[in-house]
Order: sequence, then structure tokens, then C-alpha cells
Amino acid sequence: MEIRDERPDDADAIYQLTLAAFEPMWFSDNTEAPLVGSLREAGDLTLSLVAEIDNKIVGHIAFSPVTINGRHDDWFGLGPVSVSPNLQKGGIGRALVERGLSMLQERGAKGCALTGNPDIYSRMGFVSDGNLQYGSLDARFVQWIAFSGADPVGDLKFAPAFGDET
Ligand SMILES: CC(C)(COP(=O)(O)OP(=O)(O)OC[C@H]1O[C@@H](n2cnc3c(N)ncnc32)[C@H](O)[C@@H]1OP(=O)(O)O)[C@@H](O)C(=O)NCCC(=O)NCCS
Repeated sequence: MEIRDERPDDADAIYQLTLAAFEPMWFSDNTEAPLVGSLREAGDLTLSLVAEIDNKIVGHIAFSPVTINGRHDDWFGLGPVSVSPNLQKGGIGRALVERGLSMLQERGAKGCALTGNPDIYSRMGFVSDGNLQYGSLDARFVQWIAFSGADPVGDLKFAPAFGDET
């Protein structure tokens, strides 16, 4: 498996993959696939990595800027992240997260936050202490990993493409 930056001609494959990965998920409102395109168009796709096996894209992860209490302060948001349904739970998601976090760190990011299933992300080093909030979402689902500086405290907001209404 190879992990690399997205290329312009990957956009359609990333869209289809994201659609296929989220479609069976009860929590999905099917906005994740167009969201990646909206982030790209807005210039907010800080990092967009694909996992390829035999020249086929089987995984994708996006990172975009976030604010905490209205300040960006070099924190980024993880997601969407997608793995082909037939290849899930085989380590591709973890490999994408780990590569993305190390690339963010190399670029001087102070940390990364997300909302998602704690069973998955706690295994990848993310924590939740209740001090970072996302609207009224249960604190367990608001998770973060700090690379440097203070732990995050306050209200998390994702890039405008997320249509954040918190
Ligand atoms: C979530 C997703 C990206 C994870 O990728 P993956 O390749 O399936 O995950 P990995 O095999 O790398 O698993 C990483 C860890 O999370 C755990 N995990 C993965 N999916 C899980 C699930 N649905 N529930 C609980 N734990 C899960 C694995 O057991 C593994 O932990 P371990 O290494 O300690 O055993 C992938 O399953 C996916 O595309 N799901 C559909 C879209 C989605 O839900 N995206 C994320 C929204 S928060």
C-alpha cells in the first residue's frame, strides 16, 4: 500500500470512495463526499492523502483548519476519513491517520481535533477531557491530540465548508 498526496485527477475517485464508505453508516447524512470537494474549492484542504493498492484508491483522509474560541492557532481538523468498505478494519485507516498527523506535525501544527467514534480514535492517541467542546455534542465524541503548546480549551469550529452551525 502506498500513501501519497492527492493529485488533481483523484477527485472523482475520492468522491466515490467517500460516498461508498459513509453510505452504510447510520450517522451519515451523505454530505461527506461533497464536503471534500467544497474544502478543496475553498482552499481549506490542508492535507488530502490517498491510500493506493495496485493503483486503486482504497482510502482517503482530509485535514482542514479549525478554530478554538475563534482562533486558528495552527490546529487542524481530521475528516472525513474513508476506507473502501471491503477493506475496513485492516489497518488502512490507522495508516492514513498516522501519516497525516506526522505530516501536520512536520508543518508546525500544534494539534488536531475531530468529532467521531472514541472507540476508533482513542486507539490512535486521541483523547477527550471535556475541555474542548463542539456545540452540545457529548464530550466523549470531541477528541484531540496536541503536538505542542497548551491543551485545547473552548469551542471547536471546523472550516466553513462543514456548514458549522454550532
Ligand atoms: C473509520 C474508518 C476510516 C477506519 O478505517 P479502518 O481501516 O477500517 O480502521 P483500522 O483497521 O485502521 O482500525 C484502527 C483501529 O480502530 C478500530 N476500529 C476500526 N473500526 C472500528 C469500529 N467501527 N468500531 C470500533 N473500533 C473500530 C480497529 O479495531 C483498530 O484498532 P486496533 O488497531 O487497536 O485493533 C473506516 O472504517 C471507514 O471508512 N468507515 C466508514 C466511514 C467512517 O465511519 N469514517 C469515520 C467517521 S468518524
